[in-house]
Amino acid sequence: MATVLLTGATGYIASHTWLALWAAGFDVVGVDDFRNSSPQVLERLAELGGRTPVFERADVGDAAAVNALLDRHRIDATVHFAALKAVGESAEVPLAYYRNNLGGLFTVCEALRARRIGRFVFSSSATVYGEPERLPLVETSRVGATSPYGRTKLMGEQILGDLATADAGWQNAILRYFNPVGAHASGRIGEDPRGTPNNLMPYVSQVAVGRRASLSVWGNDYDTPDGTGVRDYIHVCDLAEGHVAAVQRLLDAPGSFTVNLGTGRGHSVLDVVAAFAAASGRAIPYEIRPRRPGDVAACWADPGLAEQLLGWRATRDLASMCADAWRWQSHNPNGYDT
Ligand code: UFG
Repeated sequence: MATVLLTGATGYIASHTWLALWAAGFDVVGVDDFRNSSPQVLERLAELGGRTPVFERADVGDAAAVNALLDRHRIDATVHFAALKAVGESAEVPLAYYRNNLGGLFTVCEALRARRIGRFVFSSSATVYGEPERLPLVETSRVGATSPYGRTKLMGEQILGDLATADAGWQNAILRYFNPVGAHASGRIGEDPRGTPNNLMPYVSQVAVGRRASLSVWGNDYDTPDGTGVRDYIHVCDLAEGHVAAVQRLLDAPGSFTVNLGTGRGHSVLDVVAAFAAASGRAIPYEIRPRRPGDVAACWADPGLAEQLLGWRATRDLASMCADAWRWQSHNPNGYDT
């Protein structure tokens, strides 16, 4: 069976992808330096998967470490998750974002290329579309990221495109995620943001569990049905299965591709608040605040190309995203440090 290298392996999306790869029969080699994740994830994966995770602690920007681990393991394909991802922070420390996100990408790609391991899945983001020209977003929609974080994703896509053009042995699967939320149905792994969450769902779940008093809703004067921002929330387990399908496609067929991974449905901030209150049985107090700079009114995917190319589509709805996020949050009120 094929072996997949996961970088950023103990992070939120990667840990769910790790389980999904195991479930599909793949072997996995994980690498992370725990700068934004917990070693506890490995214990939970062992428990859920019934096997010992193969793991290397390393910084993907460290070429010697990356080369050494590739000397120790035979790899058939890579899923590159390792990156910083906070939009607001990226505007404050842009050089850290460019160095980390692009430097890590160079180091990993150079080491893989030297070994002719050319099947590469890249964690991109709907943020590359910037302000949508029209909805739903298709892969050929105009791109134009509006934050340093978003530009690291867009530049990453472009760098990988150049690499595939130059090297017939290199194949990219560029996956543009919409808004990943939820958790594994076991409640044993989930999203564990450090400090105050920037994103809606983890913030709402911390309000529900009593860690935070109330949610700030960033604006209710957008041109949307209830005035609050609309996003395409996708269950992290659907997203994880999308990665498995992308790896399988790289193994089965030549060529590179770029696909949206979303549900094709938009939900407003107030929809999420109502769905989470229903799933948790808790009130979610909120206050309307001014718009957050850089936010778009609405953003959702046309996921048709992913279905056509990968035979994949999201199956879990907002109620199940909230139920699973709540199970994780209520069983682990302080995340992995519980
Ligand atoms: N929101 C609030 N209050 C909060 C947090 C968020 O009202 O405390 C609102 C936002 O204004 C927005 C919606 O909830 O309307 C979703 O916001 P998130 O921060 O959860 O997600 P974003 O769509 O802003 O950003 C996410 C990822 C980015 C990624 C982007 C791609 O965080 O990494 O999707 O579209 F780039």
